[in-house]
Amino acid sequence: MPLKQLYTTTIGCQMNVYDARQMAGVLAPLGYAKTDAIETADLIVVNTCTIREKAEQKAFSFLGRLAKYKEANPNLIVAVGGCVAQQEGKAILKRVSHVDLVFGTHAIFRLPELIRKIEETRCRLVDVRLSDTLEQDPLISAPVAEGEISTFVTIMRGCDNYCTYCVVPHVRGREASRHPDRILEEIRIQVDNGIREVTLLGQNVNSYGNKEGLCSFVQLLEQINDIPNLERIRFTTSHPKDLSPELIKAFGRLEKLCHHIHLPVQSGDDVILKRMNRRYTRSLYLEKIEKLRESCPDIGITSDFIVGFPGETHEQFEATCTLIETVRYDGLFAFMYSDRPGAPAAAFSDKISESVKKLRLQTLLDLQADITAQKYQAMVGQCHPVLVEGTSRFLETDTTPGVKVDDACDLVQWTGRTSANHIVHFPEKAAEAGKSPLTGTLATIRIGGVHAHSLWGRRVSNNEVR
Ligand code: SAH
Ligand code: SF4
Ligand code: F3S
Repeated sequence: MPLKQLYTTTIGCQMNVYDARQMAGVLAPLGYAKTDAIETADLIVVNTCTIREKAEQKAFSFLGRLAKYKEANPNLIVAVGGCVAQQEGKAILKRVSHVDLVFGTHAIFRLPELIRKIEETRCRLVDVRLSDTLEQDPLISAPVAEGEISTFVTIMRGCDNYCTYCVVPHVRGREASRHPDRILEEIRIQVDNGIREVTLLGQNVNSYGNKEGLCSFVQLLEQINDIPNLERIRFTTSHPKDLSPELIKAFGRLEKLCHHIHLPVQSGDDVILKRMNRRYTRSLYLEKIEKLRESCPDIGITSDFIVGFPGETHEQFEATCTLIETVRYDGLFAFMYSDRPGAPAAAFSDKISESVKKLRLQTLLDLQADITAQKYQAMVGQCHPVLVEGTSRFLETDTTPGVKVDDACDLVQWTGRTSANHIVHFPEKAAEAGKSPLTGTLATIRIGGVHAHSLWGRRVSNNEVR
């Protein structure tokens, strides 16, 4: 079969990154091999996100730019997948004349037949059927890229929480969990491919298996913890209302489970939380944070925030700031509220102006930047095991402090993460580094100092660790 070129681009969350790999996996038997050269591609797949208006705009502006490739090569197939595809369906065919296929978030496994049909008949197709169950869960386990040591594995799809601002339940469908055997098998295959760290994905992993009567999330973690040659397990996202005492205890107990939790709170004000339909209060959230730190004192905690939710007063925003000061997060993502079609909050009154949202966003980011800087500074001198992900370009302007620029050309800069998910860079003599013997190993790094968004340090041998 002649080899055809597949170009994929992904906007959005880690689930979309995972889905893109699955797409490449299902298309491989049709003769499609991945390429980075968009100009020569036979099939372009745009994997889209609609979580905020900006993400949707990004998808349409990327699609617009594809017209010239279609003009140059009329046989080119342009396919739109992901959450915008699910949301907009055939409207995309009307809006963008050079799109051949719109396929929804549940249509990935039907992609080969859809593409084959287009290849044969040059028709334009739409498939945005959603299903309430995981009717099909073939083990694709598309190969990870050469040298990759960390990967995502989706353990459940969809969401049943219906936060009032959120489009996800509308574009990803009802929550459905994969069978633990499929998940374990997929991780084992990926470990054989060289993967050392897995991040389990779900919109609310803590309700894993509940609906289907499968095992609990902690039981799943226990089984993954037993997989030989896997070094680390991470997961995202955990909804605060469902964070169980068992999972809190698992952090101190399962040795491969990284000491990090992403626990989105969205707001620090009870009235806003209620109107967001988050189903927890500020005090319940803070109680869980306290228990997490009791169970695992060095746990890294990160969160998501929305500023300018409809009706958010200055006092309510202040409550979010004081929550951040109380928790002292290791990092956070903050977003300006954005109306989404189908999400109830789009119809809420008292919308906040863009300028106020911008101001509030900057206030949160500044607040967190101070906390991050203080937390980083406190780590200087400590030793941390870092799972090495690979090398990063050694920039002269960003040379590791303490390394003479004259020496810099002899050095390779390695990058990895601590268990708590802090990024750490460390230099090593190129000659000693060899091909890439450090990638995928745990190196002990003594933290020497801080960059804006990461730490730097030196590798030490275990007997140097104090
Ligand atoms: N399932 C995850 C979040 C998925 S979406 C959870 O419940 O935490 C990722 C983040 O996008 C959310 O945590 C929220 O902070 C943000 N977000 C979602 N909808 C949004 C909207 N309409 N406007 C602004 N931010 C939004
Ligand atoms: Fe959206 Fe809420 Fe579901 Fe997260 S839990 S995906 S924010 S509806
Ligand atoms: Fe975006 Fe869909 Fe993920 S809307 S954030 S790609 S679930």
